[in-house]
Amino acid sequence: MTVARVLLGVTGGIAAYKACELVRLLVRAGHEVVPLVTPGADRFVRAETFHALARRSPSDDPYPHLERADLLVVAPLTANTLAKLAHGLADSVLTEAALAHRGPILVAPAMNSRMWSHPATQANVAVLRERGVELIGPEEGELAEGESGVGRMAEPETIAARCEELLRPPSLIGRRVVVTAGGTREPLDSVRYLGNRSSGRMGVALAREARRRGAEVTLLASNLTVASPSEVEVVQAPTAEDVAREALARSDADLVLMAAAVADYRPAEAHAGKRPKDDAPWEVRLEPTTDVLTELAARRRNGSVLVGFAADEGERGLERAREKRNRKGADLIVYNDVGRTDIGFDAVENEVVVISAEGERRIPKTSKERVAAAILDEAETLLGGRDGRGRG
Ligand SMILES: Cc1cc2nc3c(=O)[nH]c(=O)nc-3n(C[C@H](O)[C@H](O)[C@H](O)COP(=O)(O)O)c2cc1C
Repeated sequence: MTVARVLLGVTGGIAAYKACELVRLLVRAGHEVVPLVTPGADRFVRAETFHALARRSPSDDPYPHLERADLLVVAPLTANTLAKLAHGLADSVLTEAALAHRGPILVAPAMNSRMWSHPATQANVAVLRERGVELIGPEEGELAEGESGVGRMAEPETIAARCEELLRPPSLIGRRVVVTAGGTREPLDSVRYLGNRSSGRMGVALAREARRRGAEVTLLASNLTVASPSEVEVVQAPTAEDVAREALARSDADLVLMAAAVADYRPAEAHAGKRPKDDAPWEVRLEPTTDVLTELAARRRNGSVLVGFAADEGERGLERAREKRNRKGADLIVYNDVGRTDIGFDAVENEVVVISAEGERRIPKTSKERVAAAILDEAETLLGGRDGRGRG
């Protein structure tokens, strides 16, 4: 096994003491840990503690921030350093290293819930997410100062488990993966459309994870409200017709993940130009769009894997999702309960049920990044089982 190098940033919050346990877990898993401790963190737990736990002496390298690493983790991440990362400041060995690091970044914010919910912090979080930085937590619970709310650092075991996933060797090298993301807009006239609330977050998380695993990824993007990942081919597909055309043109991909909310119906005729306002009702007749999942299933070649998504509500919706998998011939259906406001559409977290011919796997509520990793694990198992490569 090759040893992975992890840069571990520790910043100045009470939860710095929990980072000691994180170092221990990472070292025990066989990784080389390079602690990058801010002066703010050093007030809580001395930097020497982290170096001793990491079994390395403080670096005498004149350029410690330029250490190459497989992963940068910051736990705990204060509001202060979060703001600095969002704005690209470089005033400590940690923030300097963050600018020089090329590779996955995982951060575990920890702060008072009022600091976390402040618009400035939330705007900084949005910037980091857009850039592909993955957040783990913060969680809800009792905070060190005696208040309770969202702000607790994720537990060291949870962070270490996600590090393991991020450090796994690339398992999709040589695979071609197509992901659809976002929500289609079907024109009513030249300015109005019928659309849905999908942001594209889930699809973007899948595309990013597939790319991280080494796949050659094409993202069919339907009106995304989030940034596309880097190193991924992005093809704009604003309408259901565009998605059908672009997806079917790539039906020979190894893995197709249909995470976009594609319209089932579109206006039978769109007005040329903008329909002027008048007192008459506007009756719109809708016609069904192409069922891309069924079409892809019909054209699927041996060994490829097709994953559909079902957005529905409650247990009845789950039942319909099971039936959808059978009827449409998809390998996996990912069921999303869109009746809940805390997950699914436009939320940063999700909770899904992955339905296959063999059974079902419930993925409890977690970040869309971790849901994406779990879905890809399932898809990879099927891929590997079919052609003897990869997982299986
Ligand atoms: C007792 C105490 C606890 C603190 N806990 C936190 C915390 O949990 N999260 C946070 O964002 N800031 C916390 N702060 C404020 C930071 O220590 C302060 O913003 C500092 O400048 C952070 O520096 P750094 O981000 O460079 O480590 C705390 C301050 C004190 C005095």
